[in-house]
Amino acid sequence: MKECFVSLTLESTALRAGAFGNATCLKCRECGATRELGPFYACFECFGPLEVGYEFGTVTREQIEAGPRNIWRYKALLPVPEDIESSPNLEPGFTRLLDARNLAGELGLTKLWVKDDSTNPTNSFKDRVVACALSAARELGSRVFACPSTGNLANAVAAAGARAGIPTVVFIPSDLETPKQVNSAVFTENLVAVDGTYDDVNKLASEIAGEDPGWAFVNVNVRPFYAEGSKTLGYEIAEQLGWRLPDQVVIPVASGSQLTKVHKAFSELIELGLVEDKSYKIFGAQAEGCSPVATAFADGVDAIRPVKPDTIAKSLAIGNPADGIYVLDIARQTGGSVEQVSDDQIREAIVLLARTEGIFTETAGGTTVAVLKKLVETGQLDPEAETVVINTGHGLKTLDAVTGAVGPRATIAPTYDAFTAAGIA
Ligand SMILES: Cc1ncc(COP(=O)(O)O)c(C=O)c1O
Ligand SMILES: [Zn+2]
Repeated sequence: MKECFVSLTLESTALRAGAFGNATCLKCRECGATRELGPFYACFECFGPLEVGYEFGTVTREQIEAGPRNIWRYKALLPVPEDIESSPNLEPGFTRLLDARNLAGELGLTKLWVKDDSTNPTNSFKDRVVACALSAARELGSRVFACPSTGNLANAVAAAGARAGIPTVVFIPSDLETPKQVNSAVFTENLVAVDGTYDDVNKLASEIAGEDPGWAFVNVNVRPFYAEGSKTLGYEIAEQLGWRLPDQVVIPVASGSQLTKVHKAFSELIELGLVEDKSYKIFGAQAEGCSPVATAFADGVDAIRPVKPDTIAKSLAIGNPADGIYVLDIARQTGGSVEQVSDDQIREAIVLLARTEGIFTETAGGTTVAVLKKLVETGQLDPEAETVVINTGHGLKTLDAVTGAVGPRATIAPTYDAFTAAGIA
């Protein structure tokens, strides 16, 4: 990892020593300029996005394995303090890596795992990123914990803020699925529904963040810290495979942050000598109704043209993805791709995963499994190679997507005759 030239200046930021663990700076992903750790997200030199830089020293498998069964087992690799476990949070992570034999058989794959993040405390992978953002907000002394969200993030922020005793305000597009609205409103009295797209909501959040530095918008002004939480998906996949990297991974793409961080996690594990150095392919999944990255990939261009989303995969409905160009880079560099599927394919894939593996995924997971299927069918994925597909959310939050497609096979009178007449057994 490149050296950071500007290190933490405790006096100027009034941070406590070790506030961000082994993190040493914020580094521009475009020009490499560095600056001190703080509530910054854009480079002073070129306005490029900032990410966290570290000096890890030595980190061993034994040290990690001795940690708790949640993301804090990787605290040495995250921008969090050594005593992170002592402050109330939702303790997400260490979710199942399921050997998906039935789905593999159905799709013609030899070895397939589902990393099932639907079992996190608020039933999506967002609990991981929010746990890291909450730590940053605490260390920075933020007064309000907030986010613009396509749904799951709002659920995670509202719940984590409640647990931590920090006031929360969460902003969502007003056309969001009812379960996602309720799953936020139950934790916070400050759910704000905005008449507009996610991109409109995001713009509003940036404006508020600019006006009041006391607000920690997890995915805006503390985004560098927040985003690091997704690395834990990559660490867990490697550890749960017995400290090995898979050959192929399929990941949903909204802003693209998660995909870039799984790649960062794999690179760090190689660099630290925690896994053997090997190549792997990363594939991104989008819905046709919001596929700016998949379209740029298919067109072979670098620029991502923003779109107005129209898909049942509302959690992935970001028309102007902040990390889209980095997703393109990673897919191209690793030999993967970014693919898109229709709403009907998403619905079918939700039912396919449910009926083969007993996992009820939301539309984002439907998108990912549908893309996995498409990649096999189009020969882009090696069916003999070890493949991991990430399920990032829970189907109970997007019930409407499959309500018309599944339901009672028969409605009968409570008699044995009626049962036999229905021809079920
Ligand atoms: C369930 C689910 N999966 C995937 C994503 C995509 O995450 P990212 O914005 O990091 O690409 C989201 C984003 O909201 C989500 O809610
Ligand atoms: Zn820069």
